[in-house]
Amino acid sequence: MRSVHHLGYGSAHGKIILSGEHAVVHGYPAVAIPFTSVEIEAFVSTSDNLTATIDSAYFTGSLDQAPEMMDHLTSMIDYFFAQENLEKEPLQIKISSTIPIERGMGSSAAVATALSNALIRFYDLSDENLEKYVEHSEKMAHGNPSGIDALVIRTNQAVKFQKNKIPESFGLHLPGFLIIGDTGLKGSTSEAVRAVGDALKTDPQKTHKTLEKIGQITENIYQSIEEEDISEMGEWMTQNHKLLKLLGVSHDSLDQLVRTALETGALGAKMTGGGRGGCMIALADQLDLAKKIEKALLDRGAEKTWIMPLGGF
Ligand code: PMV
Repeated sequence: MRSVHHLGYGSAHGKIILSGEHAVVHGYPAVAIPFTSVEIEAFVSTSDNLTATIDSAYFTGSLDQAPEMMDHLTSMIDYFFAQENLEKEPLQIKISSTIPIERGMGSSAAVATALSNALIRFYDLSDENLEKYVEHSEKMAHGNPSGIDALVIRTNQAVKFQKNKIPESFGLHLPGFLIIGDTGLKGSTSEAVRAVGDALKTDPQKTHKTLEKIGQITENIYQSIEEEDISEMGEWMTQNHKLLKLLGVSHDSLDQLVRTALETGALGAKMTGGGRGGCMIALADQLDLAKKIEKALLDRGAEKTWIMPLGGF
């Protein structure tokens, strides 16, 4: 008889893309780091009800009545039972999260990772299929995911990622701070990814050129990280933002926060993640400056901010 734990638990952090979002979908490199200040936790236990139930900030009730925005999770759960040859049973699932949803912090990959891990542990299975479950969920959530979110969140390591290449994990030892500002507006990664895909069809030359330039900037940012040159890194981040704006994936609220950060003395600033809302990041070499930028972002309407040291992981 298979062994089942009384409770399966899984957790996952968010992620921040330092450079290369969108271009990474089309084969160019991107650099991303785990964002450990935000976290999703998933708990799986046997249900007293006849049907599976889910308890989350967005929906609480029977899993088969969950809203469409949870399709990626309900489908992943079905896929999990089929893949592991398990008979479906009514489970009680609880999800609690401090990762803002649809803000470019990888919340969809994080919830899929945390829940897969909780299911795997509940049934005492090996985690060899974890990657498949998250990929299944991400495909439903995003349409055409590059895989960078899933990788950073699963490994919890900083990584330079390019499709069809072996990812390079690296340590971050930069003498500086990242300030993260949330516009409070939901972005739409799938819409933004689709828009770039459309632009590649309607204006292939210009769009390819922009993506290629972003790819080169990512290489430059990676080099400045290796050389621990934070001023250089900041300049490339700002260039990256200009190109993302040109691609049409930024938003007035993001542009405004980026401008505010730069006017307050940031070494560089850009949107992060899918865009069209969501979050931006700024770079500072001193904690005092980071705090000043944080205050300026909040004064300019940022819903929430975080300061993250860039050394020591
Ligand atoms: O918005 P997020 O956190 O899901 O980040 C998306 C990053 C993109 O490059 C826009 C898409 C992808 O799959 O890499």
